[in-house]
Amino acid sequence: KPLPDDLFTAINELKRELNAVILAHYYQNPDIQDIADYIGDSLGLSQQAAATNAEVIVFAGVHFMAETAKILNPDKLVLLPDLNAGCSLADSCPPKEFAAFKAARPDHLVISYINCSAEIKAMSDIICTSSNAVKIVSQIPEDRPIIFAPDRNLGRYVMEQTGRNLVLWQGSCIVHETFSEKKIVQLKMAYPDAQIVAHPECEPPVLRHASYIGSTTALLKYCLNSPSETFIVATEPGIIHQMQKEAPHKRFIPAPATNNCACNECPHMRLNTLEKLYLAMKNRSPKIEIPEEIQAAALRPIQRMLKLSA
Ligand code: 13P
Ligand code: SF4
Repeated sequence: KPLPDDLFTAINELKRELNAVILAHYYQNPDIQDIADYIGDSLGLSQQAAATNAEVIVFAGVHFMAETAKILNPDKLVLLPDLNAGCSLADSCPPKEFAAFKAARPDHLVISYINCSAEIKAMSDIICTSSNAVKIVSQIPEDRPIIFAPDRNLGRYVMEQTGRNLVLWQGSCIVHETFSEKKIVQLKMAYPDAQIVAHPECEPPVLRHASYIGSTTALLKYCLNSPSETFIVATEPGIIHQMQKEAPHKRFIPAPATNNCACNECPHMRLNTLEKLYLAMKNRSPKIEIPEEIQAAALRPIQRMLKLSA
């Protein structure tokens, strides 16, 4: 059957029919952002998922984000438009290897970045996101050793900010490691008044040039509140849709990738399309399913995060 001509109207009708809420991450395509009930960073999305009264959560983001929503709402239907929308960072931390890494350090507290699978969350003591990692690590008593997984770049940044020594799992994100320091510096020379803003998943040579480092929500807020007119944005360029929408007179330049490809776009996030979102709602599928014992074990560290970042 052909798709409806007006997907926006069709999706809004299904939303009422299902009593659904559409949660979208800033890295989603602009049309998905425009139909979402809420757009946010990983923390904001988890808080929304924890608070929603809707019966169905349509998660326009990647698998670990939808999984988090499901862990918080085991009895609700959580739909992900494309189940293949994974995350290279989450994939860089396989559960078996991580279990051995953890077992070798039994006295360590495990703090995991939310960009990991439900299995890794189930092995963690506390979850964090890029917006609360520094705050959470600084609340842990000084004498408690900490494993931080899976992102080594965020881990290194948290170490710098807190002065704590963390045992880092050596994972990373393909998107945020693609930015070219050289090209960013060249851009800065062409736009000397521009401010460079960066996500902490970027590597140190890029972070070194940033006048502000933060989560996607924090980057958006910073750019909107700053008196500067031009920004070089070192994160997935989906966020620029909101930046441009809220500050049409400002100029937002996506930080270039090393080989001039469009690989600063997250290939996983971009698997979701408006068409797939419509079909997921229509078919009530694909849905997130997690084995019960993993779901139960993964809930506690997420709840601890929500409490520690309130
Ligand atoms: P935020 O929590 O900052 O939105 O980051 C999510 C993410 O996947 C970054 O690559
Ligand atoms: Fe994962 Fe990187 Fe994509 Fe974020 S941008 S979802 S960390 S692969």
